[in-house]
Amino acid sequence: MKIAVLAGGLSPEREVSLSSGTLIADALIGRGHTVALADVYIGLDGKTAPESLFGTDPIPVPKISSTEPDLEALVRSCGGRAALIGPGIIELCRAADAVFLALHGASGENGMIQASLECAGIRHFTGTGYIGALLSMDKDIAKRMMSAGGVPVPAGIRYRVGTDSPERILTEVGLPCVVKPCSCGSSVGVSRVFTEDELRAALELAAGYERYLIVEKLVTGRELTCAVLDGEALPPVEIIPKSGWYDYANKYQSGATTEICPAPLTEEQTNEIKRLALLAFESLRMEEYGRADFILSDDGRFFCLELNALPGMTPTSLLPQEAAAVGIDYASLCEKLVEMAMRK
Ligand SMILES: Nc1ncnc2c1ncn2[C@@H]1O[C@H](COP(=O)(O)OP(=O)(O)O)[C@@H](O)[C@H]1O
Ligand SMILES: [Mg+2]
Repeated sequence: MKIAVLAGGLSPEREVSLSSGTLIADALIGRGHTVALADVYIGLDGKTAPESLFGTDPIPVPKISSTEPDLEALVRSCGGRAALIGPGIIELCRAADAVFLALHGASGENGMIQASLECAGIRHFTGTGYIGALLSMDKDIAKRMMSAGGVPVPAGIRYRVGTDSPERILTEVGLPCVVKPCSCGSSVGVSRVFTEDELRAALELAAGYERYLIVEKLVTGRELTCAVLDGEALPPVEIIPKSGWYDYANKYQSGATTEICPAPLTEEQTNEIKRLALLAFESLRMEEYGRADFILSDDGRFFCLELNALPGMTPTSLLPQEAAAVGIDYASLCEKLVEMAMRK
């Protein structure tokens, strides 16, 4: 098959995505597919015909740095272009049998790319449609929908930068709390807050990303994640950072966290987290695959933090580890996601 892999994008998670995208492309090439990998924001150079970009040569995998990429510099290097989809990308997707969305963060996970592809008549892209992507991307909307669907979520409020006051947080949520931009990912802009000084700094940091934030009670306990693939929940993973918490650096620097799959839970707990992952998936109208993040609190209750529409897809990422636990190797997983896309 001819597969276009879209990665990068104008997102703080673009390096993670470029790394996922390259590994996906190489895995699909290894399975005999003809693949074109493109940065959805940068686009094509305008000289090469999209058709000629499909090939079978392995692509070198880029490194992920420990700090977030400079997006303003990227925009400047593209002449200040505002369009999120670069030149030639739609044509490239049209030339493909299937489009693999190896994107992370708003650019790709919030539904805009999916909607744009659908508007252009391109239906065979991997992962959920634009509705599931939008609903799961915004943590405030997602929490309301999950809660209504019977999935327990941490108590908290939506905070509007410039309108709400930090005092509201102190009275309605209290400390310790967690401040997050509504629509980021990879722990970008997320702070754990224990003092009023930290609260000020956390609000300032998150406000640098977005005007809508969520502030919720800090739940202490074990960190777990559970993926849904083709209608079934996979074995969950327990995540144990070697130091600190599961922030951006601990997510992407190799060896920074211990990940145990299947998570050492009781059978009852495993069944419960799987049930909640499927319920969260359903509540957010997700399709094909996704990954739900949880905290199992010290008093034994699961709280769903969020659902990722396009979770990390390097071979050592969480979803591929969960798939491996049921005998689906990385290349087979990549092919399975393409097969599901073809059913659209
Ligand atoms: N309410 C909470 N209590 C404790 N830790 C939290 C809470 N919310 C988020 N965290 C921590 O922040 C990390 C990122 O939060 P999450 O909601 O999963 O957003 P994202 O992964 O999209 O950045 C989590 O993996 C967890 O370590
Ligand atoms: Mg998360």
